[in-house]
Amino acid sequence: MLKQETVQIIKATVPVLEVHGVEITKTFYKNMFQAHPELLNIFNHANQEKGRQQTALANTVYAAAVHIENLEAILPAVMLIAHKHRSLGILPEHYPIVGENLLKAIKEVLGDAATDDIINAWAEAYGVIADIFIQVEEELYQKAEGNGGWRLFKPLKVAKKVVESDLVTSIYFENEDGSPLPAYEPGQYISIRVKVPGEEYLMNRQYTLSQASAEDGYRISVKRESDHTPNGKVSNFIHDALEVGDLVDVSAPAGLFILEETSAPITFVSGGIGVTPLNSMLQSLKDDATNEVSFIQCARNEKVVAFSDDIKEKVSVLPNATYTALYSDEDKKITKELLAEKVANNADVYVCGPVGFMEAVIKNLHEIGVKDEKIHYEFFGPAMQLAK
Ligand code: HEM
Repeated sequence: MLKQETVQIIKATVPVLEVHGVEITKTFYKNMFQAHPELLNIFNHANQEKGRQQTALANTVYAAAVHIENLEAILPAVMLIAHKHRSLGILPEHYPIVGENLLKAIKEVLGDAATDDIINAWAEAYGVIADIFIQVEEELYQKAEGNGGWRLFKPLKVAKKVVESDLVTSIYFENEDGSPLPAYEPGQYISIRVKVPGEEYLMNRQYTLSQASAEDGYRISVKRESDHTPNGKVSNFIHDALEVGDLVDVSAPAGLFILEETSAPITFVSGGIGVTPLNSMLQSLKDDATNEVSFIQCARNEKVVAFSDDIKEKVSVLPNATYTALYSDEDKKITKELLAEKVANNADVYVCGPVGFMEAVIKNLHEIGVKDEKIHYEFFGPAMQLAK
């Protein structure tokens, strides 16, 4: 337990740190990577360049500090981050490095305003927060190791590459010795770690498993990107250079954006490559599932849409399901009216796609009266905010 005095210092200084947030975290990353360049094998350089991860980590520490007396309140957010950390192989010994450099950066940016009392209070608070992450992550590592899984990364063999559309290619991974891979929840992702030619450090990226859990292997479906987008370098390496038979370091499946068991109606709303987890969820429904299911797939056009045939086929098998395709090149967009028509009463709605798309869909869902607890979504890329 933190002393009351410490808690007061934390609460009083959070707003100050937030004002200098970007500067502190930029200084933090610069110093940390100078002292520990090996961490560049773990962090996503593209997120770094865009300042996305910089905001995510520091904001989370501040948000957690605000809730320092009641960390239960932020456990759901901690779990999401812990899944990401576990899939990247973040270990207890990494935490003091982050802590030390965060405190140094606070001192560097705030100068004399950062008194010893303030720095000591933050050191204590960081320690409490880090311990929670370390504990939750150890539980996740143990879980990943169970049922034939593994703790960190394991080399899996590229068994197959299948072109799904002009933009999307699927990669099938299998165990080198052909033994079955552990089951996963529909909607979960894996991290892959690759050495891209010309890059000094290893690169890690998360890709959703895009089919229902099957013993014969893991499938990811990767969109070709411009080299400047966060996933560009790795995604394009996968498209252009990865070959059948290659070995790739892969983490055990992780993530909490999963299909929850229900007898209620289910609506899936996908935008672009956001179809990958939703297709996995749809395909994992039993063929005789009686839920009223509606799948709305938004894409630019028929050439770039992925998995529409698989989705249509599954929908035709399910006793009570419909499929709607909306192509923006044909000026068909998702509207409040369409959602009102397609989202059944009391439905669980799963949304995945680009950030702007998701924000618009979620706003529309609210407007037609869908309750927050019935809306399930995942933003691709770092979570920007911990607690509202
Ligand atoms: C991702 C918070 C410690 C490495 C994240 C994210 C948050 C976060 C909010 C974004 C999650 C998402 O993408 O959905 C924290 C907090 C920490 C902490 C509050 C301390 C209490 C660490 C440590 C390391 C680390 C010790 C390793 C040295 C990463 C990496 C990512 C990440 C590599 C993935 C995103 C990227 O590569 O840019 N963390 N983190 N974090 N964290 Fe942490």
